[in-house]
Amino acid sequence: MSVTLAPSLLSADFSNLASEIRKVEQGGADLLHLDVMDGHFVPNISFGPLVVRAVKKVATVPLDVHLMITDPDRYIETFVEAGAARVAVHVEVLPHLHRTIQLIKKAGARAGVAINPSTPVSALEEVAGDLDYVLVMSVNPGFGGQTFIPRSESKLRAIRELLDSQGSRAPLAVDGGVEVANAARIVAAGAEMLVAGNSVFGQPDPAAALRELRAAATGAVAR
Ligand code: DX5
Ligand code: ZN
Repeated sequence: MSVTLAPSLLSADFSNLASEIRKVEQGGADLLHLDVMDGHFVPNISFGPLVVRAVKKVATVPLDVHLMITDPDRYIETFVEAGAARVAVHVEVLPHLHRTIQLIKKAGARAGVAINPSTPVSALEEVAGDLDYVLVMSVNPGFGGQTFIPRSESKLRAIRELLDSQGSRAPLAVDGGVEVANAARIVAAGAEMLVAGNSVFGQPDPAAALRELRAAATGAVAR
């Protein structure tokens, strides 16, 4: 089965961003995942549209932007203009999630909804038919290099079931602690897309690490 791989730039060397991007593109990246953090919704600050725009200038694959910010509605258009092909917003901060999903689509991007480890699956129930993908957080967002929370596996199955029951084929993406050792299990639980930061950019050869991750995710024997 085919799996979409989205290396997370959060763990890349920001003083050599263009070269880091080239490496993972050579390693077969399908998308680039960009983590936007505001220091409010998550206890960390990363970068904003300026960096997304800079990445867009050198990237050859689509940009997958993950907004970990308290007021995404204000910035959606700006991020799409900066080059985001996909935008994920967190269900935890949005009282009008349906409206936000429409905003993302109207701006011209694919609409994703991200869900934290402690947020129940039922939070997605009313928007299941509207979203283009679900970003299932398998760590508490805010930092790269954390350990995958094992319960995320059963959560993936429950979310897949919920979407299926509503006739939605929206794919599930998993974000946090994804590595060669757990990739196959995560895919078996229903993930079609893997986000990986530390297990790619934290390795001496990110292109090779990404190829190994794909081999593990697709059940092939890594060479
Ligand atoms: C966590 C971010 C992730 C992070 C994943 O808040 O949303 O995208 O970069 O990093 P790893 O793969 O290192 O857990
Ligand atoms: Zn992310």
